[in-house]
Amino acid sequence: MARAPSLSTRCVHGGHEPDPNGALHTPLYTDTTFAFSDTASLTAVMDGQRPGNLYTRFGHNPTIRATETQLAHIEGAPTALVFGSGMAAISATLLAHCAAGDRILCLGDVYGGTFELLTKVMPPMGIETDFLLGDELAQLPETLTKRTRVLYVETPTNPTLEVFDIQKLATIAHAAGALLFVDGTFATPVNQNPLALGADIVLHSTTKYLGGHSDVTGGVVLATDALLAPVWAVRKNLGQVMAPEVAFSLARSLRTLALRVEAQNIRALELARRLESHPAVARVYYPGLSSHPNHDVAVRQMRGFGGIVTFTVHGGGDKAAQIIEALKLVTMAPSLGGVESLATQPITTTHRGLTPEERARRGIADAMIRLSVGIEDVEDLWADLEQALAQ
Ligand SMILES: Cc1ncc(COP(=O)(O)O)c(C=O)c1O
Repeated sequence: MARAPSLSTRCVHGGHEPDPNGALHTPLYTDTTFAFSDTASLTAVMDGQRPGNLYTRFGHNPTIRATETQLAHIEGAPTALVFGSGMAAISATLLAHCAAGDRILCLGDVYGGTFELLTKVMPPMGIETDFLLGDELAQLPETLTKRTRVLYVETPTNPTLEVFDIQKLATIAHAAGALLFVDGTFATPVNQNPLALGADIVLHSTTKYLGGHSDVTGGVVLATDALLAPVWAVRKNLGQVMAPEVAFSLARSLRTLALRVEAQNIRALELARRLESHPAVARVYYPGLSSHPNHDVAVRQMRGFGGIVTFTVHGGGDKAAQIIEALKLVTMAPSLGGVESLATQPITTTHRGLTPEERARRGIADAMIRLSVGIEDVEDLWADLEQALAQ
């Protein structure tokens, strides 16, 4: 039996079709539309009777398709659809699977954009969301109603890196006749495969680790053809497809995904360990540390623990701001997942829109710093953190 290619091989070669001109990778086709020689061929593609290149907004473009196939190989998913941003991917997926009268059950803390989508954009459409935080899971049975179509979760979460048991949630969702959607942006397919654990759909903001260089804005949804068919229709009609130029850049980034994330895992774990014993640090949140409340679940369902390390410092919010400002190698910026290390204070960026009470309920402290660890030398990163913490 032929050996199944491993992850790093799939990152480099996944989905590549031999090119008639011998190109090593699928070239960039910027064309908005594609030529046909007869009407029957055009209508066959138009009606979905056979695959073909037709119109780029539909995603029927060789560069977009090649990137989707590469992503599907990497995640181990039947199909992938790429979008112009992570939020486009999330909104299309929820709109495709929920109609007026349906409910969504959102578990744990989610990205601020997702929270606004669920609380501001979808309710006027008749789609309401119930929210349960990680310490309220005992209320799951009574919160899951007959009208709940989707259980939605991010794991690990931002910024406290709470880890949810995907297998357990899939069982609960399916018993209630609901689908489980997992935003796996923080974990990446290198560290976690939600579909293999029973999730129905996995989503990623490719703006983060999959793009990996802080220069590609995009999103991807991965699932079976049947679950993605309505998502494709929303993407087509709302015009949310990823541009071919972006798909081309993303495909190049994906070739080094396994190398980058494995390097980030190693550096983040080392920095988390060192921060945990630093006198200026009050608490470290990292799923790879035995002190993390969900460490056992993380060990079961993740191959690596990711490149984000969150920590709180003694001295309050002003002290955390001073430390970030004192960093020289690590840059102050609100994103994550790139090859360069970034730091942000959640109260000033990702969780700025929440009231102090809402932040307290989610365990987001003023003195919290979220560090997105890049691929720089770990000793250089530690030297920078040490000098900033000594301020
Ligand atoms: C976990 C998570 N999901 C989705 C998004 C949205 O992605 P984008 O900014 O590409 O729309 C973000 C953005 O930070 C995120 O952190």
